[in-house]
Amino acid sequence: MSKLQALQVSNLKKTYTGGFEALKGLNFSIDQGDFFALLGPNGAGKSTTIGILSSLVNKTSGTVKVFGHDLDEDPIAVKRCIGLVPQEFNFSIFERVQDILKQQAGYYGLSRHAAEQGAEKYLKLLELYDKRHEQSKNLSGGMKRRLMIARAMIHEPKLLILDEPTAGVDVEIRHSMWKFIRSINRQGTTVILTTHYLEEVEQLCKNVAIIDKGDLLFNSSLKDLLSHTDRQTFVLDIAGGDMSALDALDHVQWRQVEGGFIEVEIEKGTSLNTLFAFLTQHHIEVRSMRTKNNRVESLFMDLIRQGGNKE
Ligand SMILES: Nc1ncnc2c1ncn2[C@@H]1O[C@H](COP(=O)(O)OP(=O)(O)OP(=O)(O)O)[C@@H](O)[C@H]1O
Ligand SMILES: [Mg+2]
Repeated sequence: MSKLQALQVSNLKKTYTGGFEALKGLNFSIDQGDFFALLGPNGAGKSTTIGILSSLVNKTSGTVKVFGHDLDEDPIAVKRCIGLVPQEFNFSIFERVQDILKQQAGYYGLSRHAAEQGAEKYLKLLELYDKRHEQSKNLSGGMKRRLMIARAMIHEPKLLILDEPTAGVDVEIRHSMWKFIRSINRQGTTVILTTHYLEEVEQLCKNVAIIDKGDLLFNSSLKDLLSHTDRQTFVLDIAGGDMSALDALDHVQWRQVEGGFIEVEIEKGTSLNTLFAFLTQHHIEVRSMRTKNNRVESLFMDLIRQGGNKE
């Protein structure tokens, strides 16, 4: 028996009024319990896909099944399974934080008691409890994002969909949001995340789909995606010595870049120790070093350029 799938999307197409074809026949599925990244450049069709899953956008054709419920046959069952954190803020700015959650709970038919308990639980977990009586317009951008997550969780959905939840959020809050989402996932909630922060993907996600211009370019595990990397690039700030000595080192390429920095490209399987031993031997001091790109970022760019792993 195969695992119950949280989501099955078959031949999903969307043509917007006016004739723009935003989705050209997407096929992918997500296992229950997965932490899934839906990636793609601006305009790829991510929010359109998410809009269809959450009944905000009507699909043109294709089928969607959420935990076995067909979106066309049982949209209410599908709705109950899903908690959505949309890309744009969509709560009333005059409502108080606590009331936004309670209203959402009412919408899902939760009792008053359950609504109050849920609101308290998620406002505390998302560090918004002190702000519960505040009108939402008085929240900072990062707080508004967290409010949308709390609201999405109020009916304890089996599938949490987050459309760029960390856009414009500072590093500290981003990390605390990661911690929260990770814990929700560990407790069994399937998560779909879209983001342009590819570090986030590397930190959190298990499986990845990349779409571009309404087509699926890549769909596999993050591990598999990363195994495509055959080289890593580092940027070094160096002092002394003659870098051209590096020409003698196998599996390593280097070039001078702007600002007097050196970019060093190292093939997979080559130890950094080899590089450092060599630099030391040639009296080249490394003042600092950073990776040029996040690994997922480089692969992402390559895939978009090449058109992915579809045949
Ligand atoms: N209501 C609409 N009417 C017409 N075209 C639309 C509509 N909504 C989206 N589109 C178009 O569909 C394409 C996909 O948009 P979508 O919002 O799904 O992209 P996205 O992958 O979420 O991008 P981003 O990363 O910028 O959020 C875009 O070209 C967009 O202009
Ligand atoms: Mg979007």
